Amino acid sequence: MQSHRIGVIPGDGIGPEVTTVAQSVLEAVAPRHGLSLDYEAFDWSCRRYVETGAMMPDDAIAVLGGFDAILLGAVGWPGVPDHVSLWGLLIPIRRAFRQFANIRPARAFPGVASPVRGGDRLDLVVVRENVEGEYSEIGGRLNRGFPDEMAVQESVFTRVGVTRIVRHAFELAQQRRGRLTSATKSNGIVHTMPFWDEVVREVAGEYPDVEWDQLHIDALAAAVVLDPARFDVVVGSNLFGDILSDLTAAVAGSLGLAPSANLDPTGEFPSMFEPVHGSAPDIAGKGMANPVAAIWSAAMMLEHLGHPGASAQVLRAAEASLADPTTRTPDLGGTASTEEAGAAVIAALGDDRR
Ligand code: NAI
Ligand code: MG
Repeated sequence: MQSHRIGVIPGDGIGPEVTTVAQSVLEAVAPRHGLSLDYEAFDWSCRRYVETGAMMPDDAIAVLGGFDAILLGAVGWPGVPDHVSLWGLLIPIRRAFRQFANIRPARAFPGVASPVRGGDRLDLVVVRENVEGEYSEIGGRLNRGFPDEMAVQESVFTRVGVTRIVRHAFELAQQRRGRLTSATKSNGIVHTMPFWDEVVREVAGEYPDVEWDQLHIDALAAAVVLDPARFDVVVGSNLFGDILSDLTAAVAGSLGLAPSANLDPTGEFPSMFEPVHGSAPDIAGKGMANPVAAIWSAAMMLEHLGHPGASAQVLRAAEASLADPTTRTPDLGGTASTEEAGAAVIAALGDDRR
């Protein structure tokens, strides 16, 4: 029996609803693969912020550092500014644990309608730079409240940071269909993006077996809608990858289907697994959130922990459950509750031990 310690941060809104279901799927699959997962849950959230003035305690990073992986739901709630919840929890964790690779797959599932033509052939991975780029603390505001009020925010692109994320993307492309697209905007952003392009070109030389191209982010967004099946791996900066992955999730049929992994590929620190979606206050508490994104994120965690068979089994079960219209949640036109959709995934695990 191999065991792993998992730190769980359910968070706000639908975060706890989908995380509970993802954990029950993990509980169902783990014993079939000789795994034991020990969880410790933390109530770090906007509720905690309102009560104590902090999203998480001072020693949060030290505490999380003792786990093999982190499973997160979502954070954010009306009344707490989104930059407070993001910069008070998610971003510090990503940065402290050097989770520089944000892996966001999106694919069509049989029976799930895409809002765009050709979306039923979507199968790609967005590789998002996760610790630098446009999401930087460097900048400030001046003359608050005066007519000459101003705000400045710097983007930070380092050779080390760009090289490692681009390499990670090329390596992923080698394991997939051997195609990579780099998201750029070097026509309008004249310092950082030409630098990004130069590094991509250099790194590409190390991977002659990968066919690659680059597209400006605006044209790329249009191409994802017009010809989704054309893409395999798409690598982008922190901002571009963030935006693109909501788009690719929508093309797949719902934000409720999109998982993500925040990886420290060196393995020095714990990696974190979370759905791409947020806390969805509009549907929170109604039991109607789609748990598949959280379940698939948990499957990515199993893979990262060295259990690809268990991971693939969860994904096949999710796929089987989505093929049945009666176990789909309302975002996919169904009537199943979060819990019922999760139970369908567990039922679909069946005796499948491949
Ligand atoms: P959101 O992802 O929470 O919701 C966008 C839309 O998608 C909503 O209509 C929602 O009902 C729907 N949706 C999202 N997940 C779904 C699911 N699993 N099943 C069915 N429908 C789903 O994004 P929004 O509204 O921009 O943000 C809400 C809050 O979440 C904000 O406070 C935001 O800062 C936070 N947020 C947190 C993230 C995180 O913790 N990683 C990521 C994105 C947003
Ligand atoms: Mg986002």
